[in-house]
Amino acid sequence: MDEALAKSVARSMDIEDQPEVLSLLPELLADVDALGSEPGVIVDALRPLGIGADHVIADLGCGKGSVSIALAESLGCRVVGIDAMEAFIEAAGRSAEAQGVADLCDFRVGPIDELLGGSERFDVAICASIGDALGDAARTVGHARTIVRSGGLIVIDDVFLPDDTPPPATAYSTYADHATTIARLTSHRDVLVSERIQPHAEADAQNAAIMAAVRKRATTIISGRPELREPIERYLRAQEDEIDILTTVTIGATWVLRRA
Ligand SMILES: C[S@@+](CC[C@H](N)C(=O)[O-])C[C@H]1O[C@@H](n2cnc3c(N)ncnc32)[C@H](O)[C@@H]1O
Repeated sequence: MDEALAKSVARSMDIEDQPEVLSLLPELLADVDALGSEPGVIVDALRPLGIGADHVIADLGCGKGSVSIALAESLGCRVVGIDAMEAFIEAAGRSAEAQGVADLCDFRVGPIDELLGGSERFDVAICASIGDALGDAARTVGHARTIVRSGGLIVIDDVFLPDDTPPPATAYSTYADHATTIARLTSHRDVLVSERIQPHAEADAQNAAIMAAVRKRATTIISGRPELREPIERYLRAQEDEIDILTTVTIGATWVLRRA
């Protein structure tokens, strides 16, 4: 992975200030499948729009493939998932096998740019919790729509800021309030089909479950390799701070756009 790609991954995983932890992430996250978005929320957003067995979905920054696999299982669609982290893609392949949907899932290791620069066209492109890996909301949609057929769908699962709230950390410098975010999402003249605002309690529960699993795994790693105590404990503190922002400041949302 080159330096720019490693930086993109680190930023999306909230370890921009601690890039040395990147190689430990697969271990620390060994017990977590859904690394960002709630798969059921994305399924529920696409089901009423008729997405099914005839459709092919691109999952950009698919992590361990939890969203892709849920879509294949629930809607029967085919999915191409791409992610720069080889260990995540290996885990995605294993999960797809275990869930009996391996034939519907094509998981690839690589930069999102690889899919964006190719000639494949999809019925749906999903950007689920990839932060600003592709830029702010306008740029993210601008990139995603290049691989979606006219009339196809773009799903963005991300956050916005409450009104009159400055970015709570440098990682949120490209984020804006609701009205500005909607204006950016629709700046390419695509139509906003649906919006789901995530209740804070749901974000709380989701993040608490992830943190509990990571803490447990961290304890095991440290007991076997005490020299990793300092970076791992710093990682855990930074994740707690990040979760604090996600549960008290930013507001999660799932937007579906129909490509013009
Ligand atoms: C927070 S995780 C979300 C994973 C998944 N979408 C989910 O919701 O479970 C962000 C993912 O984006 C990937 N990522 C970030 N920038 C990337 C890039 N430029 N190319 C490929 N993958 C990238 C990371 O490796 C990571 O797996």
